[in-house]
Amino acid sequence: MNEGPSDNLQVLIGADKIHERVRELASQISTDYRGRSLRLIGILKGSWIFLADLIRQLDLDVSVSFLGVASYGRSTKTSGEVKITLDLDDSIEGLDVLVVEDILDTGETFRYLQGVLTGHQPRSLKSVVLLDKPARRTQHVKADYVGFTIPDVFVVGYGLDFSQQYRNLPDVCVLHP
Ligand code: IMP
Ligand code: MG
Repeated sequence: MNEGPSDNLQVLIGADKIHERVRELASQISTDYRGRSLRLIGILKGSWIFLADLIRQLDLDVSVSFLGVASYGRSTKTSGEVKITLDLDDSIEGLDVLVVEDILDTGETFRYLQGVLTGHQPRSLKSVVLLDKPARRTQHVKADYVGFTIPDVFVVGYGLDFSQQYRNLPDVCVLHP
């Protein structure tokens, strides 16, 4: 907690660029789901800022629920083990569901979520991620909508954290340890 927020940080995607891309994603999603109701499931905690911006640009009948997940362990590496920290508060059976995620890295979290959510028997299940880091993928998974594809760097800001810090940065920044 002693470091200033600008230590070791380098802007990768600026706030303006993020907002422009979020508008594009929202427009695509609004077109694809035209005439249907959509349930967004925000995966906590990383996705809440992205979700908040995205939902306000959607021209659709939408509802929201949240699912909390955490991978065990600390640091900039996902351990591969995922646990639910907050469960859904109502049924998604028969609904068109769009999972909203911050970042797709190894794909472990994503694959786990697909299993859990498919078990709830939604009518359809798709996903939108703000960031895709394909370099470290260990699972054969792919998001339906991707904001930005990024190189193999550790990023923070716009909801993404390192040890629960930096989520409030308006830009997506590379964190140099
Ligand atoms: P995966 O299971 O390896 O795909 O990791 C997904 C989760 O790991 C994300 O939802 C993030 O919480 C976290 N994560 C992966 N890469 C980064 C990063 O560069 N910055 C911050 N969190 C990350
Ligand atoms: Mg995280």
